[in-house]
Amino acid sequence: MIHELSNPVAKTLLNHLRETKTDALRFRHIVQELARLLVYEALKNQTLEDQTITTWQGEQEFGFIKEEDIIFVTILRAGLPMIESVSSLLPKASSGFLAMKRDEKTHQSILYYDRIPECKDKTVIIVDPMVATGGSLCDAISVIQTKSPKKIISLNIIGSPEGMAVLEQKHSDVDVFIAQIDEKLDEHMFITPGLGDAGDRSYNTQE
Ligand code: PRP
Repeated sequence: MIHELSNPVAKTLLNHLRETKTDALRFRHIVQELARLLVYEALKNQTLEDQTITTWQGEQEFGFIKEEDIIFVTILRAGLPMIESVSSLLPKASSGFLAMKRDEKTHQSILYYDRIPECKDKTVIIVDPMVATGGSLCDAISVIQTKSPKKIISLNIIGSPEGMAVLEQKHSDVDVFIAQIDEKLDEHMFITPGLGDAGDRSYNTQE
């Protein structure tokens, strides 16, 4: 199921990403903030596990998310600020990395690196800022599904209706939390109005 954030703070942050005057440092910072808002939303119904901790009044039980059961997976490279942010929030979670590159001519994504920890019975949370055609995310989900996770969730900053439709069609069991679904894909498969290429904007590169 696809869940688009409606929070005005999220929309404000997202729209700052569209501004060309937003430099790489601020761009990555906003992406990190949005990643946090997305993970709060995605885990809002997560069960808390009681743990005994030592407090100023002695040993007591309090509820915590079982972070060890969570694996964050990002798709290089635009997802790096997102995984940095969410793994700082839940530091006992593991992190995994997939490297994919979209072929500029065919628009197909090609997987060239895969370093994902054991996923069996864990909740895998994919973080990638953009869902354009949906190809990269669908491929990432397919790779992760072979590792028998309990659940797959995707956190994304911006997407196209076309990419969302592909996801719904191919992976309707995956919960997608996204800050903004834009108007459309243009003829070059760029999200419109969009924010440009999140990887290039984050790292000051122009290919
Ligand atoms: C971007 C983005 C996604 C992918 C989305 O990565 O981060 O991974 O494109 O496009 P799709 O939905 O059509 O597959 P890109 O290939 O530009 O690499 P980058 O992260 O290095 O910029």
